[in-house]
Amino acid sequence: MKNSLIQKYNVPGPRYTSYPTVPYWNEEQFSYPDWIKSLKKAFSESNSKEGISLYIHLPFCESLCTFCGCNKRITKNHNVEAPYIQALLKEWRLYCNLLDEKPIIKEIHLGGGTPTFFSTQNLEDLINGIFAYAIKAENYEFSFEGHPNNTTHAHLQKLYDLGFRRVSFGVQDYSEKVQKAIHREQAFHNVAKVTFWAREIGYTSIGHDIIFGLPFQTIENIVDTIEKTKSLQPDRLAFYSYAHVPWIKGNGQRGFKEEDIPKDQIKRLLYQVGKELLLKNGYHEIGMDHFALETDSLHKSFQNGQLHRNFMGYSSSKTQLMIGLGVSSIGDSWYSFAQNQKNLDDYYQLLEWDKLPILRGHLLTDEDLIIRKHILNLMCQFETSWNTPNSYFKEIPEILEQLQEMENDGILIIKENGIEVTDMGKAHVRNICMAFDLHLKRKTPETALFSMTV
Ligand SMILES: C[S@@+](CC[C@H](N)C(=O)[O-])C[C@H]1O[C@@H](n2cnc3c(N)ncnc32)[C@H](O)[C@@H]1O
Ligand code: SF4
Repeated sequence: MKNSLIQKYNVPGPRYTSYPTVPYWNEEQFSYPDWIKSLKKAFSESNSKEGISLYIHLPFCESLCTFCGCNKRITKNHNVEAPYIQALLKEWRLYCNLLDEKPIIKEIHLGGGTPTFFSTQNLEDLINGIFAYAIKAENYEFSFEGHPNNTTHAHLQKLYDLGFRRVSFGVQDYSEKVQKAIHREQAFHNVAKVTFWAREIGYTSIGHDIIFGLPFQTIENIVDTIEKTKSLQPDRLAFYSYAHVPWIKGNGQRGFKEEDIPKDQIKRLLYQVGKELLLKNGYHEIGMDHFALETDSLHKSFQNGQLHRNFMGYSSSKTQLMIGLGVSSIGDSWYSFAQNQKNLDDYYQLLEWDKLPILRGHLLTDEDLIIRKHILNLMCQFETSWNTPNSYFKEIPEILEQLQEMENDGILIIKENGIEVTDMGKAHVRNICMAFDLHLKRKTPETALFSMTV
């Protein structure tokens, strides 16, 4: 791709783990009873058919990585574990009291922060506490995020015994210089050890997270990181673009200067070199930032059109209802989103008052639901279609105009009833989704909200 096009498409843009994106939620039109109503509706429509998903946020980390964009609390004090597990279980009980039958759980994802900050006993109490009020779906899929520096054999064995078959490890980059800048010193042998243990215990999908665009990162670093990764053969790989969002993460994203961060063409080159190496080594691109071996379930669901994307990232099937437990977690009933309090003290306080700890949310309009479907299709299948030729978009000519321009730039092909992202366009799928994003079109943000798309 020409440099001028890379620059043209390097704009601030959402990652579309939801549509509308969180900054565009209409909080005034949303209330706590709205969330309960849509939750009950989604539950009655889907629990017995497909089950529900649970995202559980475990926010604690022992040490701050200076690139990190996640919601986390840094502490070395492990006394925080037990009260947090009790709060999660109270939140879960409050939800179960609202439902008229036992939830059937299809998916659980433990995200963070660092789930492996918690002891095996506390993780066991959490999962057993969840199933005191729920049933496992027949084809359940449980996954968790593990930090290679503190995931023990006991963690992997315990979570396996509790039904977990998928784990993703944060790798980021193997270069010492990059690791120093991001304050995350992590030897290859640690990652190799946990990957080996997980495979030996019987995990069926092991993922590694790698980031391109980190401070001081060079082409040689990316090549070396991917070569080392290849030698461990993870089943799936997240190859994330570094999201530099200092206006959100303020004092967290430091330890390096702006000029140490690769940008524009240099960042794009890091991506291209990495992607080519991954493709050469048997990985398939299955969605934005994600690659998988042919044998992995994400690849299979990409091929049969079952891939889904939500706040947990990509998953191999969709449930209509996802309940988010824990500080800052987001729930999704398809008709509505609700986010929990982001501050731990507020989260605890509301639970103490026997209230669900909701901070804000959004009720999707009919228009939101249509656009959401197109954005999901693009993110999960690199294509989308509509029933009557361009019917819906006739009323919104800017969408078609922008798609036309993108076709001229070679990043998509317009068909009679839809569009298809080209190979070159896959790196710009965020930009293509932005063409459909009517909230963004109606109100351009006045301040920085999103990371750059390249
Ligand atoms: C919650 S962390 C994974 C678990 C554990 N805390 C760890 O670091 O190993 C989830 C992943 O998000 C990704 N991530 C975090 N901050 C990011 C950023 N600013 N840009 C891109 N990816 C980021 C990293 O790849 C990280 O492994
Ligand atoms: S990258 Fe992981 S370990 Fe590091 S601060 Fe973020 S959540 Fe914590």
